[in-house]
Amino acid sequence: MPTHIDLRKEVRTRSQLLIGNGIFRLLAATGDPMARVLGVRPPADPYPLYEKIRARGELSRGRFGFYITPSHGLASAMLRDQRLGTVSTADVNGVDWNVYPGDAEYLVHPVEDSLLAMNPPEHTRLRRLVSPWFTPRALRDRTERIERIVADFLDGVADRGEFELVRDFAIRVPVRVICDLFGIPDSEYQRFSRWGSILAGTLDGIRTVRERRAARDALVGMTGFFDDLIAHRRKQPGDGDVITGLLEARPDGEPLDRRDLVALAGLLLGAGFETTVNLITNGVAALLENPEAKRLLIEQPDRAGDVVEEVLRYDPPVQFTARMTHEPVDYAGVRIPARHLVVLIIGGTNRDPAVFAEPARFDVDRPNNREHLAFSSGIHYCLGAGLARIEGEIALRELFRRFPRLYRAAPPVRRTGRNIRGLQRMPMRTGTARNVLVS
Ligand code: HEM
Repeated sequence: MPTHIDLRKEVRTRSQLLIGNGIFRLLAATGDPMARVLGVRPPADPYPLYEKIRARGELSRGRFGFYITPSHGLASAMLRDQRLGTVSTADVNGVDWNVYPGDAEYLVHPVEDSLLAMNPPEHTRLRRLVSPWFTPRALRDRTERIERIVADFLDGVADRGEFELVRDFAIRVPVRVICDLFGIPDSEYQRFSRWGSILAGTLDGIRTVRERRAARDALVGMTGFFDDLIAHRRKQPGDGDVITGLLEARPDGEPLDRRDLVALAGLLLGAGFETTVNLITNGVAALLENPEAKRLLIEQPDRAGDVVEEVLRYDPPVQFTARMTHEPVDYAGVRIPARHLVVLIIGGTNRDPAVFAEPARFDVDRPNNREHLAFSSGIHYCLGAGLARIEGEIALRELFRRFPRLYRAAPPVRRTGRNIRGLQRMPMRTGTARNVLVS
């Protein structure tokens, strides 16, 4: 890799970061709820801030020309409105990853270069190619495998009596599922999880030069990894894995180019476990705090689907998404000009009292809990939603079935990000007779 930095780009990015951060800090210090929600240090409990923003109206204008909404009705309409399109990190705060000569040709970003940042018709073409791995039938085939992964893990824990929720359980399930999808050993998971958490952090926007550097290093690692895997599968095709399938695909009579392939693989990797791990941790946290819901899950394990939907509504792993207007649009009596950013607060839409009665209550019996926007809506609706639901259902159902007296051995530590919400660490005890006595 080249080592000489492009100074002009570096200076431009540094000054953008400096100015952007300074302004956000200043506004956050004045108590501006939008700056506090999107600003430098995220609050441990963001939901009261979303309510402050809601109190200002369905759609508010931020101080720098962006718009923000916690309204379920507005956000779902905007997500389905083709006059609004996707947004890149560069759109949000001017970060340019490619500071070394050669970066622009070599590096592939799993969000900015992938489906998630594409608009039709490219989006439609690529999404169609990966869909076969996520059909209900493909998912049925995966269910048994996921059940085995979870059972193996729980067997291991039963003897120890204690474990760390994230490292030992929540992350293992989605990582193994994704490694299966790629046909690779899950011993790779530590590298994956490092890249995944660094790149997931960039969804909050890049705040410092150090963050930008760490993200670029993760991009170099991930791009190189998938380049190698693709080269290997070209020589030695696998059996039913997603890379082999994509290499064989001929969307317009032509094979997919390297950039699309690497970006898709990176997106599946990142989207596949950086989110699902938090569905599991947020689920465990919500069930421990709501003993009635926990009892219901233990007594009626076939209600695991309702539990997962309510976790996704009540405490969604992805808290925001954003769109850019392609042309002027009118919403809630406000004209949003072209090329303006709209932040959609998914965590706020899921607690919109116009749609969900007593929204701050965790209620598994809620009749409309599937109406949440945790998986977004419209053309970018999460491709892995079905898979994530199955993983969440099996993980939560089996964990509490095997260890109905599961409890926290120490207070949880939250992840520090704004967009991806979940736990970083939560030591657990299984509540079996031996460790109840020693605790
Ligand atoms: C609880 C777990 C998950 C959550 C909360 C979640 C959330 C989301 C959200 C909110 C979006 C759309 C963002 C937007 O509209 O701007 C999305 C897109 C996507 N997700 Fe997920 N996701 C989860 C699990 C997964 C899994 C397991 C996979 C695959 C293995 C996956 C693959 C994708 C892909 C490929 C897209 C892009 C779809 C497109 O642009 O057409 N996700 N996800």
